[in-house]
Amino acid sequence: MVVPLSAEFTDPRLVAVYDTLNAYDSGTQPAFYLRLAEDLGARSVIDVGCGTGLITREFVDRGYAVTALEPSTEMIAVARRRIGEDRATFLAGDTALLGAAGIDLAFLSGHVAQFFLTDESWRQALTDLRRALRTGGTLAFETRNPAMREWEAWADGTRRVSVDPVAGRIETWTGVDDVDDGVVSCTLHYRFLDTGVELAAANRLRFRTLGELEASVTDAGFAIAETFGGWDRRPLQADSAEIILVARAV
Ligand SMILES: C[S@@+](CC[C@H](N)C(=O)[O-])C[C@H]1O[C@@H](n2cnc3c(N)ncnc32)[C@H](O)[C@@H]1O
Repeated sequence: MVVPLSAEFTDPRLVAVYDTLNAYDSGTQPAFYLRLAEDLGARSVIDVGCGTGLITREFVDRGYAVTALEPSTEMIAVARRRIGEDRATFLAGDTALLGAAGIDLAFLSGHVAQFFLTDESWRQALTDLRRALRTGGTLAFETRNPAMREWEAWADGTRRVSVDPVAGRIETWTGVDDVDDGVVSCTLHYRFLDTGVELAAANRLRFRTLGELEASVTDAGFAIAETFGGWDRRPLQADSAEIILVARAV
């Protein structure tokens, strides 16, 4: 299947500055998923939508057997370079590439789950991931809580200036184009201040409710194990920014 991808993940000029604009703060996703893997005693993991490998490398460096799956050839090329071709299994494509691999843990971080816009594509991904995990294995992912309507904050057009070691100063802001039936269409704007180049990337993100997430995950052969509302494992509440879901393959 061809995965529709935003220019954020395919335009080489935007891929080149992805890490500068999207570096993780300490105590966020990398820490959460690493602790989860450690608590589970996992040995093998799949990083679904690994992007440039920001989290993948953390796992590889700690000795996990990592499968790094990513449909964007530009993003996975960065991950390969960063980590080293022979230190992980890199799969350029979608979850259909995963066989019955008896893996301990699969995770989707960086809100990858929200890029599955349709129920069908999400159902297919969950089915593929269930097949790739061993019975008793774990699926974990996060999505932004739709109740918190984070897109309303994006729509205020707040601008931020970041400094990339190669591209220099980049001004970024987001415009929200449409909100319809749980799908938010927005445009990421980039102005490279040192060259005057302006680029834009159209992104569409699905915001699923906890009920929708739980139903889709259980239908695909998982049992919900835990839910969290933040990277420090705080309980999930109605006003949590994140819905973090951990499920067991049954
Ligand atoms: C915001 S980035 C997060 C990258 C990485 N997980 C991280 O935490 O840095 C979202 C990633 O999801 C990938 N993606 C989009 N659609 C996908 C799909 N159907 N299957 C797997 N990955 C997908 C994109 O190519 C992109 O690399």
